[in-house]
Amino acid sequence: MNNSTTDNLDRRTVVAGAGILAAATALTACSTYGETATPPPATAAPPAQPGGPANALAKTADIPVGGGVIVGGTVVTQPTAGTFVGLDSTCTHAGCKVTKITDGALECVCHGSKFGLDGSVVTGPAKRPLATKPVRVEGDSIVSG
Ligand code: FES
Repeated sequence: MNNSTTDNLDRRTVVAGAGILAAATALTACSTYGETATPPPATAAPPAQPGGPANALAKTADIPVGGGVIVGGTVVTQPTAGTFVGLDSTCTHAGCKVTKITDGALECVCHGSKFGLDGSVVTGPAKRPLATKPVRVEGDSIVSG
């Protein structure tokens, strides 16, 4: 009788331990997937200043010449002084978001595509340029539309 009670207790302990191990494995898998699927943005615009237009994406002064900033789903670049370009941050390869702007190129880290500041493809696997988004200067801000 003691052996039976001990056996049941040991079986329950083993079953509970297996459940905890399975849960821990699932959490680890979710965490790893989340990091891979949504890389953190490397370049983000500072928040719009109070008092600017309601649809302001960024201040013109915050967009470097020969670079750009990523504001939500929009990339605003300044290829040459005073020329601003709006682009959709959705990569044309498989739909990840462009998250880095380095050395005058917009980079999608999912598979390594790079785009020029005008959205043209510099390095594949993407074959099509980034879609443009209308932006304009209003005062000292860049606004959508
Ligand atoms: Fe951007 Fe593949 S989704 S390179």
